[in-house]
Amino acid sequence: MIIRTEGLQDYEAVYALHDAAFGNRDEESQLVERIRKSDCFVPELSIVAEQDGEIVGHLLISRADLVEQELRQEVMVLAPLAVNPAFQKQGIGSALMQEGLSRCRAMGYGLVLLIGHPAYYPRFGFKPAVGLSLKQFDVPAEIFMVNELIEGALSRAKGELIYPPAFFG
Ligand SMILES: CC(C)(COP(=O)(O)OP(=O)(O)OC[C@H]1O[C@@H](n2cnc3c(N)ncnc32)[C@H](O)[C@@H]1OP(=O)(O)O)[C@@H](O)C(=O)NCCC(=O)NCCS
Repeated sequence: MIIRTEGLQDYEAVYALHDAAFGNRDEESQLVERIRKSDCFVPELSIVAEQDGEIVGHLLISRADLVEQELRQEVMVLAPLAVNPAFQKQGIGSALMQEGLSRCRAMGYGLVLLIGHPAYYPRFGFKPAVGLSLKQFDVPAEIFMVNELIEGALSRAKGELIYPPAFFG
């Protein structure tokens, strides 16, 4: 299996992959397309898993803002992550997560936030984003999580996570 940066040639396969992984609805596929066209897109953080020439997994991490009154701090948001159902539970999701988080750290991004399954993401260092607020989505507190990639980043973070317009179609 190869983990690498997504290229233009992968767009079609990535669309089909999210469609299949999320149960034949193309919400996440379209989310990926909107993020790619937005200024929140970081090409190096759109990462695919390829096996025998086939795209079997994709992870996208993009930019968002944490806002506290006039203060605006750049943070990263992770969404979506998908592995082809026929290839799940083989470590592909974990490999994508590890690569994505290590690229973020290397690029100097100290915080990654997400809304996701509380049984899956803590193994990668995510914990409930206690103290940070989320107003655009009404979700249980335990599924709004943060990963502090650079020590000290979390203690300086406060405010409300603002997901960019690309997240809302
Ligand atoms: C979540 C997903 C990306 C994991 O990919 P994967 O390649 O199967 O992951 P890995 O093989 O690295 O890890 C498998 C582990 O994740 C767990 N897992 C998978 N989906 C899970 C879920 N929805 N909730 C909790 N745990 C989950 C498995 O039980 C397994 O746990 P174990 O290691 O303790 O046995 C994949 O199941 C998927 O694409 N799901 C559909 C899309 C989705 O829900 N994406 C995440 C949105 S938050």
